[in-house]
Amino acid sequence: MIHSAITGTGSCLPERVVTNQELEETVDTTDQWIRERTGILQRHIAGEKETTALMGAKAAREALDAAELAPDDVDMIVLATTTPDRIFPGTACHIQRELGTPVCPAFDVQAVCSGFIYGLDIARRFIMTGGGDTVLVIGSEVLSRIVDWSDRSTCVLFGDGAGAVVLQARDEPGILSTHLHADGRYDHLLQVSPEVNGAFIEMKGNEVFRMAVNTLGRIVDETLEANQMDRHEVDWLVPHQANHRIIAATARKLDLPMERVVVTVDQHGNTSAASVPLALNQAVRDGRIQPGDVLMLEAFGGGFTWGSALIRY
Ligand code: UT7
Repeated sequence: MIHSAITGTGSCLPERVVTNQELEETVDTTDQWIRERTGILQRHIAGEKETTALMGAKAAREALDAAELAPDDVDMIVLATTTPDRIFPGTACHIQRELGTPVCPAFDVQAVCSGFIYGLDIARRFIMTGGGDTVLVIGSEVLSRIVDWSDRSTCVLFGDGAGAVVLQARDEPGILSTHLHADGRYDHLLQVSPEVNGAFIEMKGNEVFRMAVNTLGRIVDETLEANQMDRHEVDWLVPHQANHRIIAATARKLDLPMERVVVTVDQHGNTSAASVPLALNQAVRDGRIQPGDVLMLEAFGGGFTWGSALIRY
């Protein structure tokens, strides 16, 4: 059986940082409210030239370097994004052109905040079935372009950025399992609806919060059960970064102290499909995540979609 493992990670964050204090000047909010309710202190906001494709390509290049591979080695590019640069062609094709990879499948996945986990699942199965040896899985977002900057209930939450991993065929499993779900009955709770407000994110935050906590608790159980693993065998939680309180609830479910949880929401805000690979890259590069560690990746977002991956790094 062919397995797959993450052999390189990378990221790209826009240069401009916007603090809570700066937002206090433009909407009726306070640094204290944002910190206490979300854990966010700042977010990166893309300039005109920092596009989904260019940030994604930069993160991908870093991941390829870390894996000691060249663009020539790539057999497929999967880009998870909610904010493609154009409706078509797929932004993954633009990334392919930027990187200069040979002709290979390249496409976008739209599963909002769970997109990276969806991409990882697709890449893993592509490798397992002999489709190729090396896949780039990227999450890249410029959410600032679909945020209503006059709506205090959403504009303080989101940020821009990109994260990427290289997934390679291996004899031993790196990715132990992936789990994907969606339930379209809740689409109205978190959406971009052109009819309602001019194509900006709108969210019933409170209801999404409750669903996220319950659903992530369930998927943690499902993931451990599928691997016949005890929760105490998990070394690191690498969660989607929407709200520090949601992350803490999932950590409690795993009985993990917060020191074993990778938290970037304070620095990045919610970067949707980019949040999990951004967090993963950070903890790999600062040496917290070590070879052999067991990682629980999870995400929940619009759709609703949700998913998880259990990984032996
Ligand atoms: O990534 C996809 C998944 N997304 C999520 O998981 C997000 C889930 N939701 C959340 O993280 C939280 O629900 C929020 C952070 C969005 C909101 O926190 P909350 O504790 O649920 O607050 P709330 O929506 O119940 O609002 C409480 C109060 C309201 O005022 P009243 O009605 O009590 O007077 C809001 O108007 O806070 C007010 N409020 C604000 N006040 C200051 C809402 N936004 C702000 C703001 N600054 N930015």
